[in-house]
Amino acid sequence: MCGIVGYIGGRPAAPIVLEGLSRLAYRGYDSAGLAVLGPEGLALRRSVGKLENLSLLLQTQPAHGFVGIGHTRWATHGAVTEYNAHPHTDCRRQVVVIQNGIVENYMRLKERLVAEGHEFRSQTDTEVIAHLIEAYLAGGDDLLRAVGRALHELKGANCILVLCTNEPERIVAARLGNAGGLVVGFGEGEVLVASDLPALLGYARRVAFLEDREMAVLGPEGVSFLRVDGTPMHKEPETVSLDPEAAARGRYQHFMQKEIYEQARSVTDALHGRVDFEAGEVSLGELALPPDRLRNVTRIRAVACGTAWHAALVGKFMIERLARVPVEVDYASEFRYRDPLLDPTDLVMAVTQSGETVDTLAAMDEARRRGAPTLAIVNAIGSQAARVADAVLYLNAGPEIGVASTKAFTSMLVAEYLLAVYLAQLRGTLEPEACRRLVQELARLPNLVGEALAGDGVYEDLAERYANCANSLYIARGINYPIALEGALKLKEISYIHAEGYPAGEMKHGPIALIDERVPVVAIVARDEVRDKMLSNVEQVRARGGKVIAVAASDDAEAHSKADHVLPVPHLSSLLNPILNVLPLQLLAYHLAVHRGCDVDQPRNLAKSVTVE
Ligand code: AGP
Repeated sequence: MCGIVGYIGGRPAAPIVLEGLSRLAYRGYDSAGLAVLGPEGLALRRSVGKLENLSLLLQTQPAHGFVGIGHTRWATHGAVTEYNAHPHTDCRRQVVVIQNGIVENYMRLKERLVAEGHEFRSQTDTEVIAHLIEAYLAGGDDLLRAVGRALHELKGANCILVLCTNEPERIVAARLGNAGGLVVGFGEGEVLVASDLPALLGYARRVAFLEDREMAVLGPEGVSFLRVDGTPMHKEPETVSLDPEAAARGRYQHFMQKEIYEQARSVTDALHGRVDFEAGEVSLGELALPPDRLRNVTRIRAVACGTAWHAALVGKFMIERLARVPVEVDYASEFRYRDPLLDPTDLVMAVTQSGETVDTLAAMDEARRRGAPTLAIVNAIGSQAARVADAVLYLNAGPEIGVASTKAFTSMLVAEYLLAVYLAQLRGTLEPEACRRLVQELARLPNLVGEALAGDGVYEDLAERYANCANSLYIARGINYPIALEGALKLKEISYIHAEGYPAGEMKHGPIALIDERVPVVAIVARDEVRDKMLSNVEQVRARGGKVIAVAASDDAEAHSKADHVLPVPHLSSLLNPILNVLPLQLLAYHLAVHRGCDVDQPRNLAKSVTVE
């Protein structure tokens, strides 16, 4: 969840960029840097650790100039070093680049550029972009064309800012795919660009958001917009509120809505620095458990509450399927009361967004008392769970404000998938080629998440149609059964409609008695080994007058013909499909709650973190 800020105008750029980065600091970082173009040419300042380290550096080594870009980086892979901090430059220090996202094919590009004589100074994927632009500039392109041609070679989802000493009064901004956004701010005689609205507060109220494959060129005369292929385009600025909370919500009505739509970026951030797409490997170097310890784990005991418990149920499928390690999942609130049998070769995996849930912390204490090491899969940086665990795998999802958990849930699933592949690599339960295929699937995830969230027109109609139902059933099978549970919880906790998640195979053993036209049934019909069984469940419900809303692959004509309504999702391998299948259920719950006038971000009786028993 890197932070990005750029400024061009009549004031010194460095302090404005620094302030903008501090407004994005909530996204977590462990290194920061900025570049300014001024009378002395390029001034590049980078530091590891807190943002004030960069601020102190600038006091002793000021960076003068009115054009600047800055970046905060959360490096989850390998040592945090100054040379890996952004911005990155080309060989001649003419081109300066900062990035949020993943260049999936950077190794192949890097090999080609090294063979052409380029010298790299970092291990990052971002530096490849600077050298690509350098090569096109050397071929005679101007900055804009060189950036466009470089972007054309990138695979993945990326947001970048580029400076160049050849054109010192320009900032080129570009967005590819769904690795988060870029927003341009129009101030008085100055323009800014940032990865999130809070960085623009106080400088701009009129803004324009870059969408996928769009670019912006910021200059003293203002901003011009174009598509990555060079086609000029017009963007009508919109006015945003000065209220910090409203600015943090951006163009969204609720934080939950914003966090639902942030998931392409948050899953990207969960992957960042942990996957080598070229080598087809996952590396979780940040886990403070020795590889041998992980290699010799005989059983994983997952403990969690609520949505995190649903995530742990999905993780069970992933880890058992790939790493062949048995996983038991317990409600954290039950775990310590059942005298759990724990061995030192067990690993207790606590899954928690806040890292402060009292039942989950108590389960971790119980594990430690019984001599089992603990791993926390957690979002809140520096939370109690992160502090007491023997190993930590951060979600990197950024703050989740909405009480109903959305982006943290999908990041939990990504983290568990990474852990499953990593364990499989350590234990040799998967051939390298199989790991490569699994990693390639991950590379497609951010864009498919963006695709799954693209069509929200159907939800208003469904909200209108089902807003007054009192009960609903969510059914699925296999790895999607926990998604049915999660979809039901989302609906319950924000719309106050009673909803029950159920294994579809259990319908005949009682719940089918509930079916009539007043009880909508949400069925997850994934393209997997139980698809036909799910389709017959759909038919059974409809035969009894029930209405079926199916989550199904966009191209599944049979599901479309059998259900009353379909929420289409792209198809991905069965272990990653749950990440896509939950997205329509989040939107369905959200729109029903809004239609019913509920307080979506702070539902009644609920708290974001349950710190009391
Ligand atoms: C999720 O939408 C709920 N807000 C709730 O179930 C939550 O998942 C649960 O309280 C666990 O919280 P944690 O992930 O912070 O531990």
